[in-house]
Amino acid sequence: MSTDAVILVGGFGTRLRPLTLSAPKPMLPTAGVPFLTHLISRLREAGITHVVLGTSYRAEVFEDYFGDGSRFGVDLKCVVEQEALGTGGGIRNVAPALRADTVLVFNGDNMIGVDLVDFVETHVKTDADVTLCLTKVEDARAYGCVPTDVDGRVEAFLEKDPNPVTDQINAGLYAFKRSVIDTIPTGRPVSVEKETFPGLLASGANVRGYLTTSYWRDFGTPTDFVCGSADLVRGIAPSPAVPQTGERLLMPGSSVSPKAHIYGGSTIGTRTAVGAGADIDSSVVFDDARIGAGAVIRRSIIGKGVTVHPGALIEDAVIGDGASIGAGTELRHGARIWPGVDLAEGSIRFSSDL
Ligand code: GTP
Repeated sequence: MSTDAVILVGGFGTRLRPLTLSAPKPMLPTAGVPFLTHLISRLREAGITHVVLGTSYRAEVFEDYFGDGSRFGVDLKCVVEQEALGTGGGIRNVAPALRADTVLVFNGDNMIGVDLVDFVETHVKTDADVTLCLTKVEDARAYGCVPTDVDGRVEAFLEKDPNPVTDQINAGLYAFKRSVIDTIPTGRPVSVEKETFPGLLASGANVRGYLTTSYWRDFGTPTDFVCGSADLVRGIAPSPAVPQTGERLLMPGSSVSPKAHIYGGSTIGTRTAVGAGADIDSSVVFDDARIGAGAVIRRSIIGKGVTVHPGALIEDAVIGDGASIGAGTELRHGARIWPGVDLAEGSIRFSSDL
């Protein structure tokens, strides 16, 4: 069975600023490689090798890194939207690059462990126009919910609700009949969630849900990004692209003092140096950073080329590329530091400066 894959990667990634000022969200390093590499390696593993990226914001970064995909074992094409067309508009915009009758569409910031082959086979077997992969969450209030009947037919697309009727939510992975993609309007922004799917339901189309209990996480917020990266490092999130699984991932070329403590699925980037007594838990440290002796970093993202001076404490924070964090500084509770900022010794920040 021939299947194409489309990955939507055109968003601005505002919730991960300032890191997404220099790189689009799907290109941020997670477990040592750009996030998108994990998705592409899962596709390749499932035998789906024709991959189309729907790009817009910082489109050139994808082209430069992935090229024609041959380095990653796939045949990859980037299609650029001059202006962001939303999720539905992004899918419609790549239509000329599609070849197969069945098209898998991924949000480029979701990691999902579902059996892709079974997902596609079920979509084809049920002759669905669209099949949505669904996952259950503990607290569905922050999500749009997707109730289904006993046969798996989608009954409704419900907006965020303080009292959700179901804990099933859209996992950001769809299988489309190619002909359905051709009905999405061109030349204007369209949201699949708000327009295409409700429209299909209203017209009586065969829209189905496929519930998975496999791993799922949206990497779109700093908290999810650090948890997701740690899940990849620890082998909880499935990806053939993780260089090595364990309690920590030290990239080749990093230099870590034997007296540093690095755990909780943390990653230390290439050419990054970590001093004695530093304590790094559940964090992602990008390339070319310097972490001083005795610094404590928990559940945080440290951008490329950042310097953290000795004794700094960084918790639940995001540090933009090239910033310098003074000795003894305390950053907590969602503090975000602009790229290149030089924070004086002993500074205290308890919230975002963006
Ligand atoms: P935030 O600004 O933090 O909400 O992030 P985002 O811009 O990535 O938006 P969101 O997380 O809702 O997007 C889900 C997926 O769709 C991501 O992989 C985005 O890259 C992608 N996406 C969002 N908007 C567009 C768009 O206009 N065009 C394309 N091609 N992809 C999009």
